[in-house]
Amino acid sequence: MTAPRVLLTGAAGYIGSHTWLALLEAGFRVIGLDDFSNSSPEVLNRLQTLSGTAPEFVRADVRDAMALNAVFSAEPIDAVVHFAAFKAVGESTAKPLAYYANNIGGLLALTEAMQRHACKTLVFSSSATVYGNPEQLPIREDAPLSATNPYGSTKLMGEDILRDLQRADPQWAMALLRYFNPVGAHQSGLIGEDPRGIPNNLLPFVTQVAVGRRPHLQVFGNDYNTPDGTGVRDYIHVLDLAAGHAAALYYLLDQRRPITANLGTGSGHSVLEVVRAFELASGRPVPVQFAPRRPGDIAASYADATLAHQLLGWRTTHDLAAMCADSWRWQRQNPNGLAG
Ligand code: NAD
Ligand code: WQD
Repeated sequence: MTAPRVLLTGAAGYIGSHTWLALLEAGFRVIGLDDFSNSSPEVLNRLQTLSGTAPEFVRADVRDAMALNAVFSAEPIDAVVHFAAFKAVGESTAKPLAYYANNIGGLLALTEAMQRHACKTLVFSSSATVYGNPEQLPIREDAPLSATNPYGSTKLMGEDILRDLQRADPQWAMALLRYFNPVGAHQSGLIGEDPRGIPNNLLPFVTQVAVGRRPHLQVFGNDYNTPDGTGVRDYIHVLDLAAGHAAALYYLLDQRRPITANLGTGSGHSVLEVVRAFELASGRPVPVQFAPRRPGDIAASYADATLAHQLLGWRTTHDLAAMCADSWRWQRQNPNGLAG
């Protein structure tokens, strides 16, 4: 049997690039698609170095129906992993139309192309953001869903669209994967998270403080109902996340059944715990300043990760120390990201 051929949209991004490598290592054939709206073409050189082969790649906007048609017509595609989307919560409240246009428009264009070409196997990047402010911890997949910002709405709508599509045509096999807080980088230090401008997320900010690009970390709130008062999240190593996509593809291609699953470790860490673990891993101080709570933030979020283990046979293997060590190696080797 020939290896399944998988299209990755948003393939040059943070999670896409790590998943690309994981799928190649798992024996899949991969074709990447990206418009570099939030990534750099340099990622392709790095992937070539890491994999030893030239990546098969199409530069296109996933909303471009003609470009998609050309990709699907060139050689049959067995499955798609759809990462391409905008993902900054704050920006989404300032530019809601751009978020709906890209995240919903991209999903519609992609699923229409897939339908036309009878490719009905899809992994969708969803997010723990669909749980809104969770009533119970750890969060199970059957918890109530809600959105607290336009970005979150695009993920919830994306899930709804796919659930409707699957109900209308049960031939669709889909995995809706709800990622918790992806951090870390490939151990080579060649690929990692490369945010543009001031990072929104905790780990990229911490690494930029450690490398001297920023003076201190602002800790948003120390009066939450958590053990040390700072926010608690389920940080998951991007390599574990990448492996989760390979597991989901095996499941879909084999079982042809839909699945909605959390991808998290199942345990939470506070902001201060992350800072301490990072200082230990890097040997660098990370000065902190306490600041007011960030609007829209919740006290704590961590996954019940049992379903993915039961159905996909997947579980995380990297702890917080490894996440910090790998984030640090990436930042140290690329102090200005891929642009510098
Ligand atoms: P990223 O921005 O690093 O990667 C997304 C990639 O998609 C980028 O390379 C960007 O250039 C590309 N892209 C965006 N719009 C496109 C379009 N219209 N056409 C083609 N390419 C386009 O983000 P990431 O962290 O790798 O996230 C990947 C997916 O996972 C996103 O759907 C995101 O919403 C989801 N997700 C991310 C997180 C997180 O914290 N990183 C958490 C949960 C879910
Ligand atoms: C983590 C903790 C902050 C920065 C976001 C999205 C979510 C998902 C993952 C895509 C919180 C604190 C942060 C800083 C801080 N993305 N913090 N100082 O908010 O859990 O999730 O990314 O789907 O949808 O909302 O992640 O990394 O921004 O914050 O104190 O400079 O770190 O308050 O407690 P978050 P984060």
